[in-house]
Amino acid sequence: MSNIPTPHIAAKEGDFAKTVLMPGDPLRAKYIAETFLTDAVLVNQVRGINGYTGYYNGKRVSVMASGMGMPSMGIYSYELFNFYDVDNIIRIGTAGSISPKLKIRDVVLAMGACTDSNFAAQFELPGTFAPIASYELLRKAVQVVEEMGNIGYQVGNVVSSDVFYSDRQTTASWQKMGALAVEMESVALYMNAARAGKNALTIVTISDSLVTGEATTAEERQTSFRDMMKIALEIA
Ligand code: HPA
Repeated sequence: MSNIPTPHIAAKEGDFAKTVLMPGDPLRAKYIAETFLTDAVLVNQVRGINGYTGYYNGKRVSVMASGMGMPSMGIYSYELFNFYDVDNIIRIGTAGSISPKLKIRDVVLAMGACTDSNFAAQFELPGTFAPIASYELLRKAVQVVEEMGNIGYQVGNVVSSDVFYSDRQTTASWQKMGALAVEMESVALYMNAARAGKNALTIVTISDSLVTGEATTAEERQTSFRDMMKIALEIA
């Protein structure tokens, strides 16, 4: 394809599998490739966003970081969907809980994503758009989590925020609408998937609570991250 390589990805045509797992952190991508994939090859290292393609239980799968926030997720998901012929992107990340139903380390499967960002403006819709997960990926994720058995999880709305350090206190307003957790990437991912006619799902673990102020230790984050990677790899 003429757009390859892109301004942000130096991989060749066919270097990516049809399914890409996207953690926020490039070191997590490296960890996933080294720990869970066989025959993993490095396909991108522009800006330290290392991308790998290998095999999980015989299935070809790629893993590459999204970076933090919607501009970054917007760029990588757009280029993967539209220029590298990727069909499925599964975000695996962390989120702060705003629902009292969630405990630290619980998993949220983001059926929908709300936002305080202006990302949707580019599509010039005569109303608001409801960014949603791929039903097929979500259905499989629920099935895998149920089979794993010992994981606390919720399915519902997340809030993709443009600000981590905000001057405004908005948690209570989102909580009233039943939103589960806040993160910073899903709306860009879901809208890019919709526009490209592709599939996306966000799976996050709760790293901190905006309700109680409780936070996970680095070690707890590692363990819950492994659970989430397993869910993502099983549905890949
Ligand atoms: N806000 C936004 N993104 C996050 C948070 C949060 O509190 N926790 C983990 N990712």
